[in-house]
Amino acid sequence: MSLRNTPLGLVHAVDKEALLTAELRAAIDVHIAKYPPEWKQSAVMPALTLVQDHNGGWLTRELMDAVAAYLDMPETAVYEVATFYAMYDLEPVGRHKICVCNSVSCMLGGAEDLIAHLESTYGVHPGGTTADGKFTLKEFECLGACRHAPAVMIDKGYHECVTPADIDRIIADLD
Ligand code: FES
Repeated sequence: MSLRNTPLGLVHAVDKEALLTAELRAAIDVHIAKYPPEWKQSAVMPALTLVQDHNGGWLTRELMDAVAAYLDMPETAVYEVATFYAMYDLEPVGRHKICVCNSVSCMLGGAEDLIAHLESTYGVHPGGTTADGKFTLKEFECLGACRHAPAVMIDKGYHECVTPADIDRIIADLD
């Protein structure tokens, strides 16, 4: 029998409410309500995003376990999501995240030059954070803005046709 379409109901030892504030639980509940009760694990991605934002931009194992408990799903299933998608971070990050698309259109449109500029100007490499903690530099797969390459996502905002001069101006405006 395939388990592919079987809900992932589990009993967890973790206190479901220990690490998730009432506000976080209320925000996650909004997403849980979009699905049938037996499929509340479908809210795992917005739940992880909410918890990550609340934790300064990254996820601890304890927080992922708390999400698993809250959604009645295996911890490993939450780890799979958190490690597969590039928007989740499992280590501390800077105050901002600069995500440069490294897929074909953007690479042809100047993404490599943009990354080289960020490396030489700010002393940070993909996966790293500037010494002053201002931003973490990440390389992303296609951001879906291929017509306006190179595309960069800074925190939750998109920037298109970005030049080194553009990104310098944007970074200067970040706190
Ligand atoms: S290739 Fe960069 S947005 Fe699609």
